[in-house]
Amino acid sequence: MAVRDLLPRLDGALSADLRPLVHAARDAAAAENVRLYVVGGAVRDLLLGRPLVDVDIVVEGDAASLARRVAQQTGGRVEAHDRFGTAKVMHNGPVGTGHGQSLDLATARTEKYVRPGALPTVQPGTLAQDLARRDFTINAIALGLTPPNEGVLLDPFAGQKDMAAGLVRVLHDKSFVDDATRIFRSVRYEQRLGFRMEPQTEALARRDIAYLDAISGDRVRNELDLLLREDAPERGLARLAEIGALERVGLPWHDAPWLSRKFAQARRAAPPGALLPEIYLGLLMYTLSPEEASAALRRLNFPRATDQALRDVGPLKATLADLTRPDLQASAVVHMLERFQPAALQTCAFACDNKAARERLRRYLAELRYVKSALDGHDLARLGVKQGPRMGQMLKALRDARLDGEVRSREDEEARVRRWLTQPASEE
Ligand code: CTP
Repeated sequence: MAVRDLLPRLDGALSADLRPLVHAARDAAAAENVRLYVVGGAVRDLLLGRPLVDVDIVVEGDAASLARRVAQQTGGRVEAHDRFGTAKVMHNGPVGTGHGQSLDLATARTEKYVRPGALPTVQPGTLAQDLARRDFTINAIALGLTPPNEGVLLDPFAGQKDMAAGLVRVLHDKSFVDDATRIFRSVRYEQRLGFRMEPQTEALARRDIAYLDAISGDRVRNELDLLLREDAPERGLARLAEIGALERVGLPWHDAPWLSRKFAQARRAAPPGALLPEIYLGLLMYTLSPEEASAALRRLNFPRATDQALRDVGPLKATLADLTRPDLQASAVVHMLERFQPAALQTCAFACDNKAARERLRRYLAELRYVKSALDGHDLARLGVKQGPRMGQMLKALRDARLDGEVRSREDEEARVRRWLTQPASEE
C-alpha cells in the first residue's frame, strides 16, 4: 500500500469526535517542533482495514505539556500521570449523555523489567526505543503525524511482513519472561485477527509458561476478561489450554467439545443485558472439581459479586439432581434455588443437560423468583399477627401457598391468616 494514503485513511477511520483532537495534537506538536506518532493497535488496525478501537499517540517530548496545549485549544481538560509520562485530554460529551471523548498521549519511553512479572520502570526515550519495548511486531509500527515523518510508516521489526503472513511474533526471546500476560495477548490477537503465533514465538510461550506464576491475579483476570469479550472466546481458551497457559493460571480446560458447544449455545440464547463473560466463566467452573474451583477462585481474585456467583456454581450443580424429581411443587423449587446467585442459576440453565432440571431453572429465573404474597407485614399486623419470627414464617408460607396455587387472591390469603391465628404456630 502506498504510504501516502495512510494519513487520509487515518482521518477517515477516526470518529468525528476524535478527529479534531488528533488534528489539534498534530498542530501543537508541529508548532513546538516535537515529533508525534500514532502507534500500536491503531496502526495495525488501519493497515488491516479494521475499525479503530482506540488511538494511542506517542510524542518524542513531554506528553503532559502537549496535552495542556491541546486542551487549551479545544476547551478540554487534562489528566496527567507524570510517573508513566502519559496524559489524557478529556472533553465532556453533551450534558447528561455520559458520552465524553478523550485522547491518550504518551511520552516515548524505554522500559526496564526489574523482575519478571513486575510492572516495568519507565524513562523517557526515543520512538525507536518505544517501539522496541512492545509486545509483537504487528504492534510495533508507528505512523508519523508531524514533519519530517509526516505520513511515514516506521516499522523497524518488519511488522507489515508478519501482518501479511498472518503471524504474531515477539520482538525478542525474553518478551514473555518480561511480561507473561503477553501469552494471553498473543492468543487474543491470533483469534481476533485469524493469525497464528510464529513457531519460535509459540515455542517461547510454551517455554516461559511458568512465568505466569509471577503475574498477579488481577492482571491475569484482566487478560482473561479481555479474551472473553472476543467473538468466540472458546477458541482462544482452547488454544491457551493447548499451550498450557490456562491450567497454569488455575483453570483446567477439561471437556473442550462440551465447553465449546455450551459457550456457543449461551451466546445464542443469553437474554439481552446478560453478562456473557460471567456466564462463560461459570460454564468453565461447572467442569471443575470443588478443589479446582476453589483454587481458581483464590488465584483469580474476582470482584465480590462475580466471586460469589462462581462459588455458587459447584453447590448448585450438586443440587440439580434433586431438581429433576417429577413431583416437585413450585415452592420446593424456590426453596432449593433461592440461596443461589442469579448468575450461577443462569449458567446452570445453560450447562445442565437434563431437560426437566433446565426447565425448572428457567421457570425460576423468569417467574418464580419474583412471586410474593399479596399481603405484607403491615397487613398481617392489621389482622392481629404480632411482629417477630412468626410473622416472617407466615409471609413465607403465604408466598409458598401462592406459588403452589393454593391461594389466588388477597382474600384467600387473609382467610388463611385468620385460620392460622386460630391454630398453633406449627401448622403454618
Ligand atoms: N503493549 C505491550 N505489552 C503489553 C501490553 C501492551 O507491548 N503487555 C503495547 C502494544 O504495543 C500495544 C499497545 O501497548 O499495541 C497498547 O496496548 P493495548 O491497548 O492493550 O493494545 P492494542 O494494540 O491497542 O490492542 P487492542 O486492540 O486489543 O486494544
